[in-house]
Amino acid sequence: MTTVSDSVHEAAEVLRRGGLVAFPTETVYGLGADAFDAAAVERIFAAKGRPSDNPTIVHLASADQLARVAARVPATAAALLEAFAPGPITVVVPKHPDLPSVVTAGLETVAVRIPAHPVSNALLASFGRPVAAPSANRSGRPSPTDWQATFVELDGRVDMILRGAPSMVGLESTVVYCAEDEPVILRPGAVPAAAIAEVLGLPVSAIEHGPGAAAADSVAAHSPGTRHRHYAPAARVQIVQRRGEQEDTQMSSGTIPTGQRALDCGYIGLEAPSPGIRFRLSMQCPSPEAYARELYGFFRTCEDAHISTIYCESVAEDGIGAAIMDRLRRAAAATSAE
Ligand code: TXA
Ligand code: MG
Repeated sequence: MTTVSDSVHEAAEVLRRGGLVAFPTETVYGLGADAFDAAAVERIFAAKGRPSDNPTIVHLASADQLARVAARVPATAAALLEAFAPGPITVVVPKHPDLPSVVTAGLETVAVRIPAHPVSNALLASFGRPVAAPSANRSGRPSPTDWQATFVELDGRVDMILRGAPSMVGLESTVVYCAEDEPVILRPGAVPAAAIAEVLGLPVSAIEHGPGAAAADSVAAHSPGTRHRHYAPAARVQIVQRRGEQEDTQMSSGTIPTGQRALDCGYIGLEAPSPGIRFRLSMQCPSPEAYARELYGFFRTCEDAHISTIYCESVAEDGIGAAIMDRLRRAAAATSAE
């Protein structure tokens, strides 16, 4: 049975017993277990239906715990944590030999992050040990950004959902590979590439995701998660160009339906949908940050309403816009492939 609780103390007790606790972070909700309890971490993979070759992120209360999970902390990783943690950044560093290999899917590196949500941080402090936690969705689905969506994903599969305020960022953390000299952004998030380059005083490359991206072995080895289906709601997702960027509403694969057909479609973007197109459900977001925060919840609302296609307006790829476009492309690729 899954319990929903506000008690950080009870949640820490569940972790101590080797149980699974879903909890809020500022990015999305996570599904946690004691990172040093291999059997508990294995249950995370079973609960999510997650392929065992996709490593988890280890969550820390503070940088003081780094030495327990990392064999060493390269200068780039230290600088990024100093600048952006607690916050939506994850650094990939060489793994401590004592950390169970199930956490890192057998890799010699570990992804670590210090979140910034009052409830996750209270839990990590109360538990006092590193917590392995992927996002709290079933594998391939959009991450939950509130406790209700977490319950829908994981009811009956986890021991407890620790309830807190919805995630403020709404998209998963920026993941930066720091185990070698040249840092690489494996997944864009709320900490933008430009801010990372500025802190490091280095140009920082990002690996290409999505359809057509070169699946070089080295890239796959750096970022196992990119091989898997991701972030896809049950409805089809289509990206529409911003008005002004393109004269008409031509899209990568098709056009926005007009009149009656749009009545079973959804729309989300920064601009209002074109006048004359009546969507069943539409959401105009006041800023890219609001778009990021609302996106996964909008996907879920559309699913619940049995909406067939969700049209998502493209945004400029700076700031959080790069993360929005990354998730939209993955969702569009995953839903069109079926
Ligand atoms: O915001 C977040 O990062 C959320 C919250 C809960 O903290 N967590 C999250 O975890 O998004 P997850 O498991 O859904 O995504 C982790 C990503 C995956 O793409 C995984 O492949 C990558 O990080 N990753 C984990 N360990 C890695 C490693 N050692 N090397 C390269 N990539 C790694
Ligand atoms: Mg995930």
